[in-house]
Amino acid sequence: MADFTWYPSNGKAYSMMSNKHAEREITLYSLADVQLRFLCPADLDEVRTRCQDWFPIEYPLYWYEEITSSNSHFYSLAAVYQQQIIGLIVAEIKPHSYLNDEDTGILAKCFSDCDIAYILSLGVLKEYRRNGIATLLLDSLLKNLMTPERRKVKAVFLHVLTTNSAAIHFYERRKFRLHAFLPYYYSIKERYKDGFMYVLYINDGQPPWTLYDYIKFMCGRVANGAGFFPWVLLNVHKALGWLWGHHESTEQDHH
Ligand SMILES: CC(C)(COP(=O)(O)OP(=O)(O)OC[C@H]1O[C@@H](n2cnc3c(N)ncnc32)[C@H](O)[C@@H]1OP(=O)(O)O)[C@@H](O)C(=O)NCCC(=O)NCCS
Repeated sequence: MADFTWYPSNGKAYSMMSNKHAEREITLYSLADVQLRFLCPADLDEVRTRCQDWFPIEYPLYWYEEITSSNSHFYSLAAVYQQQIIGLIVAEIKPHSYLNDEDTGILAKCFSDCDIAYILSLGVLKEYRRNGIATLLLDSLLKNLMTPERRKVKAVFLHVLTTNSAAIHFYERRKFRLHAFLPYYYSIKERYKDGFMYVLYINDGQPPWTLYDYIKFMCGRVANGAGFFPWVLLNVHKALGWLWGHHESTEQDHH
């Protein structure tokens, strides 16, 4: 992956909102000095230190080697300010059919041969939070996923601890929607913690239909009037045909 620098077109100044929990808050009046670039092997130690600080989960060394490798299949993007990594996003794209059991059901059946993006990690250095850095990183990922070459990617999803209100606010504000509650999903320091799965549909991706969608569809048909009654007649006719065929074949079996 080639390195690149991203500069916001508007040079917009961001003021920081109060964050009582941050030890030291740094307000970036402009994001123009923040550089976005892909990770490289030289970042391994810095990335490892950051992740150990930001996430309660311990990742094995090979994971850090993988995300910082120059030919990594991960989308591993860093936000760099004054030569230090102040933010990081790691995502991967995989076929929908490769998802774990608990992650299935994100896409409607017609998208079963499509791809899906998974955000493994997103973190920002404590003192730089609420400056729009995570937004910058996520926007860059989404922009990449919405290019014509990535049309097959129909959704982006992630897991988050149910107690991580900052991240939940962040993703909800970015239009991610709660998809599933995952009891005891995380094992952190030998204790089980609940998780949520959040999903954002992109590139015309759609979730499977729920009962509500079917009712909405029927109501739409009724509202349309003309289209609805032939549709009902056709389906009643089909059902009767099936029942009649079924009845005849069982009669023959008896003889
Ligand atoms: C979640 C996290 C990545 C957000 O990073 P950030 O750079 O502060 O996010 P942004 O500045 O782009 O925030 C954008 C919006 O998200 C919401 N948000 C972010 N942090 C929030 C918080 N602590 N409380 C409430 N809303 C928050 C706000 O709506 C914010 O907009 P605003 O500042 O205009 O109100 C950061 O808090 C973090 O690194 N947390 C620790 C690691 C982590 O939990 N990662 C997520 C794992 S899935």
